Amino acid sequence: MKTLVEDIAETYTPHIVIVGGTSGIGLALALHHQTLGWQVSVVGSSAAKIADINRQHPAIVTYVCDLTDPSQTQTLLDNLSGIPFQRLIYSAGGYTNERIHHLNQADSDQMLAINLQAFEQIFRWASSQLKQQNQSLDVTKNVRTSLICIASIAGTIDYPYASLYAKSKRAMIATASAYRAALVPYDIQVNCIASGYIDTQALRDLNDGDARHKPFIMGTQTAVDHIMQAINDDVELAIFPRSMRYITSALNHLPKPVLNWILRSKLDKAR
Ligand SMILES: NC(=O)c1ccc[n+]([C@@H]2O[C@H](COP(=O)([O-])OP(=O)(O)OC[C@H]3O[C@@H](n4cnc5c(N)ncnc54)[C@H](OP(=O)(O)O)[C@@H]3O)[C@@H](O)[C@H]2O)c1
Repeated sequence: MKTLVEDIAETYTPHIVIVGGTSGIGLALALHHQTLGWQVSVVGSSAAKIADINRQHPAIVTYVCDLTDPSQTQTLLDNLSGIPFQRLIYSAGGYTNERIHHLNQADSDQMLAINLQAFEQIFRWASSQLKQQNQSLDVTKNVRTSLICIASIAGTIDYPYASLYAKSKRAMIATASAYRAALVPYDIQVNCIASGYIDTQALRDLNDGDARHKPFIMGTQTAVDHIMQAINDDVELAIFPRSMRYITSALNHLPKPVLNWILRSKLDKAR
């Protein structure tokens, strides 16, 4: 005869929170987890995107929060604190093409806030939540708790000419690696995703409506498949597609002045 805990575990729905889950890769991951039977919560700042999700996917729980405002972010985290979750994905990101537009103060503030500062605020909170949860009776032992962040392949190349976007994604990769080491004793999985170009609306908007010319660009579903594979295989830093991984690995073996010269002359670079 089954115990009460086994009975509950069989009917228990795991919960995922996707910060930056209202469009693009984050939304695609939200819908994918929904098809896998997860309860899904998403966070974004655009009321219009949230209204669309509420209309089209009423089972998804939505939270409006501008992550560039630390006090709004703290209120969001306070509201989420009573709600257990098994996985959190940080997919929020901001980008302006610094090779075409000069980086102004507003863009600089926004990019640093979303790509780095809010990410750190949320990973700090989420790791402490999962530590507490894992200490209490957990009926979802079959789902390993995990923290995932979406960085970029741009952050895997170490060179002085890197943009603020690339540098903040590089910091995200290093931060995720530290969290991964720190959370081993708590059996909490941490994975970082360093993807090449993904054909999302945000990337198309940055490229006058069409991003098909971007090297090795992949569809959103392909990106979701890679990300889910990386989570299932517990890959510390998943770099894809393979062609881009080989190129960045070769670039990282070049002497720094040569690498700097090559990348300067290319002007545009991986998002
Ligand atoms: N597409 C690519 O080629 C590519 C390649 C490598 C890495 N990435 C990374 O993948 C992630 C997703 O990119 P994407 O192409 O899917 O873009 P996207 O559709 O613009 O997704 C970004 C998400 O972040 C949220 N967000 C942005 N600013 C926010 C703010 N101030 N407060 C709260 N939420 C905010 C957006 O929601 P709201 O608009 O509602 O605020 C949206 O849900 C980003 O981190 C990006 O750097 C993308």
